[in-house]
Amino acid sequence: MDKALLSKTAAAMVARGKGLLAADESSGTCETRFKSVNVECTEESRRAYRGLLFTTPGVEQFLSGVILFDETIRQKSEGGVPFADYLAKKGILPGIKVDAGAKDFPLHKGEKVTEGLDNLPRRLAEYFKLGARFAKWRAVITIGEGIPSHACIYANAHALARYAAACHEASIVPIIEPEVLLDGDHSIERCEEVTEATLRACYAALAAHDAQPEYTILKASMVVSGKHNTRQAGVDEVAERTIRVLKRTVPAAQPGVVFLSGGQSDEAATAHLNAMASMKGLPWPLTFSYSRALQNPALKAWKGQAGNVAAAQKAFHHRAHMNGLASQGKWRPELEKQAA
Ligand code: 13P
Repeated sequence: MDKALLSKTAAAMVARGKGLLAADESSGTCETRFKSVNVECTEESRRAYRGLLFTTPGVEQFLSGVILFDETIRQKSEGGVPFADYLAKKGILPGIKVDAGAKDFPLHKGEKVTEGLDNLPRRLAEYFKLGARFAKWRAVITIGEGIPSHACIYANAHALARYAAACHEASIVPIIEPEVLLDGDHSIERCEEVTEATLRACYAALAAHDAQPEYTILKASMVVSGKHNTRQAGVDEVAERTIRVLKRTVPAAQPGVVFLSGGQSDEAATAHLNAMASMKGLPWPLTFSYSRALQNPALKAWKGQAGNVAAAQKAFHHRAHMNGLASQGKWRPELEKQAA
């Protein structure tokens, strides 16, 4: 366990004005995304698309790291350079998704538990050799009638803690991602309650497993109204509730907090981050770790055509730029229109 490297990596992940690109969609998720723009999902089309994102000129100004999928960390750029090396040369940290996905949780209908602990130390050692300096594990918490159960929250927190300890031993910074889904008709009050209970359980488990907050990054879901709730909370309310929960649960010793977009619109994800980052006296830097909210416009512009690569890169650069500003509380809605 190289503590100096862990500290250096964690600080770099949340460097001012930069955030993470989540490009670690599993092949199944990628298929759904590609289908929405009528692109066939193959190993080569996934490589071409990810290459487009990674080679976007100037994007390194706004990206501290990229979360890769197992397939992608083994793939190469057009010029034959392994993607992890290509990114590292641009000053972007390569990261790796190491969980094996959220699976049905036995005896608990409608709930999931994330798998992937088998052989994790061996896999982490290999990923380190391939260049990965941080990792991601996503747990999924669903809000519904009578759920989440205590068992679901604790099983996921326990797995996250075991994963974090294994990462620390491998000198890889673990991103702890307990995503409270926004699907459902629940209120924002309920989302706040569940998010707080989830984070409490996660940090208790991390402490019990000796995983130190100094070498850990939280990837949080924001406290928002359920997608189908009739009252959709505004930007300031989302920001206030999210920060209140984080302050109550996340150790100040942690180097930073990043957010997922979770199905929010591109602009909402940016506006929410901006509102939170504008708050005074936060114990940690905040930034983005978005997949959809960074990639949506690029994917739509690309449509699988080589001739659209420049337009897609422009769209991706714009979202990365907007979110880079938002992470410093410097974004304004007018900036979106200026670029359109
Ligand atoms: P979204 O930003 O699309 O929610 O994805 C982030 C992520 O990495 C989910 O694990």
